[in-house]
Amino acid sequence: MDKLEREKYREDIAGRANVEDTPELVAYYDALEKKDMGALWTVANKIEPWHPQPTSVPVIWRWADVRPAILRAPDLVTPEKAGRRVIMLVNPGRRDVSAAVGHLYTGIQIMKAGEAASAHRHQASALRFIMEGRGAYTVVDGERMTLDAGDFVLTPNGTWHEHGVDASGSTCIWQDGLDIPLMNALDAGFYEVHPDLRQAETETTDISQRLYGAGFVQPAWLRRDWNKPYSPMMKFPWVETYAALRRAAEVSDGSPYDGIIMEYVNPVTGGPVMPTTGATMQLLKPGMHTRAHRHTGSFVYQVAKGQGFSIIDGVRYDWQERDIFVVPSWAVHEHANASSTEDACLFTFNDLPVMRALGLYRETAVTDNGGHQNISSKA
Ligand SMILES: [Fe+2]
Ligand SMILES: [Fe+2]
Repeated sequence: MDKLEREKYREDIAGRANVEDTPELVAYYDALEKKDMGALWTVANKIEPWHPQPTSVPVIWRWADVRPAILRAPDLVTPEKAGRRVIMLVNPGRRDVSAAVGHLYTGIQIMKAGEAASAHRHQASALRFIMEGRGAYTVVDGERMTLDAGDFVLTPNGTWHEHGVDASGSTCIWQDGLDIPLMNALDAGFYEVHPDLRQAETETTDISQRLYGAGFVQPAWLRRDWNKPYSPMMKFPWVETYAALRRAAEVSDGSPYDGIIMEYVNPVTGGPVMPTTGATMQLLKPGMHTRAHRHTGSFVYQVAKGQGFSIIDGVRYDWQERDIFVVPSWAVHEHANASSTEDACLFTFNDLPVMRALGLYRETAVTDNGGHQNISSKA
């Protein structure tokens, strides 16, 4: 750390580090550095900020840009060579760890009819949100799941999984979400390719959804013994998710910050679908403009339906169906449905289970200006 940087982090506040360089101190710092030591007071205010200081910035990736980019990939690389044909969405502040925001990775994957990727497993928790196409499937621990646009599917940490598209289907595009950066930050990442490159389909297609998917009635003989740290139900269909949102919207306005927001849950525990990763779908009624708040936790949003805008740290981000945007931890945010007749739906995945498990969740509401931010610019 040089003089300029040391100066930058000095704070003239009682209880905070505020040490001016002297020739003796500079010599002392140099001597410490040579022995792999350092004076805490030179970095204390930097490494213990008053509030979260994410290097992630709010970003929106518009489908109008992303779709043509991912459609080019099949002409340039084969799935065999690339492993997975994925365009990553990379936060300018998190390029070093390939994160979209915080410790969350996201990418857009394409697969043509008849293609299949090899089976593998990893420590990272993973999910997919289907964006377009027919005939997509995922196999998780022997269970094949058939997938349509808007369906959300888990490939939890440690499970063998592979993806493909039936020969009778069409080119499919989906969003992948993983906590790879978190696993790497914790030095806990592992990856294995299946020894046979394919796994046997030992279960009935869509069995977990058929067993657990009713929600309020559960297979008692199974849930008693389920002890894995993730949901036994892997597929969460759009049709049923949207129907549940609509039913709730008839009788409630939901959260002032999120409208009708429903969390995808592990049906056995009622908790998040995976130990590190949570997911929600929210419905904003026609014309709804939520109040602004801020909280810890990093969020990746995909516009599942409709159009509107979000204001993040004073900047307005207009969005349409299939656009993806991120809200970094502690960023002030509010959402609005721009239509006066149609509802809008936002899918998110997030690291809230980590925040909650470690007691790190904090939330505050914006109270002035009617609970809304002033818009300083438009992205
Ligand atoms: Fe995977
Ligand atoms: Fe929020």
